[in-house]
Amino acid sequence: MPSTSGPLPAGETAGCDTSDILIIHRIFRWGFREAPRLVREVRPGDTERAAIVADTVDLMTLGLHVHHEGEDEAMWDRLEHRRPACGATVDLMREQHRVVAGLLERVPPLVETWRADASIESGERLAAALDDIGATLGVHLGQEEADIVPVAAEELSQREWDEMAEHGRTLLPKDRVPIQLGLMIDAVPAADRDDWSRRNLPAPVRLLWLVLLKRKYTAWQRATFPTGMPALV
Ligand SMILES: [Fe+2]
Repeated sequence: MPSTSGPLPAGETAGCDTSDILIIHRIFRWGFREAPRLVREVRPGDTERAAIVADTVDLMTLGLHVHHEGEDEAMWDRLEHRRPACGATVDLMREQHRVVAGLLERVPPLVETWRADASIESGERLAAALDDIGATLGVHLGQEEADIVPVAAEELSQREWDEMAEHGRTLLPKDRVPIQLGLMIDAVPAADRDDWSRRNLPAPVRLLWLVLLKRKYTAWQRATFPTGMPALV
C-alpha cells in the first residue's frame, strides 16, 4: 500500500484530472439545499413519508462524511509536504472538515426521532441542523475549489487522486449506488453527459446503468420527489 503522505511515490507522475470533484460538490450543494426543504414539507405524523425522506437525509450525510474522510486521507498530508506555501490553507480545510464533522454528528439522533414521530418540532430540529451543514459547506466547498483543487491537480498523481473515489466506492452501501450514479450523471450539464459517461464510466457500468441501475434511480426520484426532482444544474 503506497504511503498516503509525503513525497510522490517513485514511478508516478504529478498531475491529475480533478474534474470529478466539481460534480460531487454540486451534488452536496444541491442535497443540503433540497433535504431541509423535503423534511419541512412532510405532513405532521406522516411517518411513511418521513421514512422515505429520512433515507435520503442519511444518504447525503453519509456521503458527505465519506467524501471528507477520503479527502482527509488522500490530500492534506501530501499537499502540505509538496506545497508548503499552502500549509495555512490546508490547515483551514482540516478545521472546516472538523466543524462539518461536528455538525454531521448531530444528525443521526435527530433523524431517528423524526422517523419515529414525524412531528413538526423534530422535523424542524432536523431541518435546521441540515441548514447549518449547508451553510458551512457552502463556504468550505468554494474555498476548496478555489485554493486547493488547482494545487492538487498539479501535485497529486492520478492514482493518488483516484483514491478518493475508491474510498467512496468501498464505503457507500451497494443499494445506494444507483442513486449515487444517477445524481452524478444528472450533475453533469445535459450537453456533456454522453461524452462524460464515455470518458468516466467503464462500458460494463454504462450497460448496467441502462439495463438496471437507471430504473432504480428513477424509482428513488419518484418516491423522494413526487412532484418532480429539482435540477442539479
Ligand atoms: Fe472538503
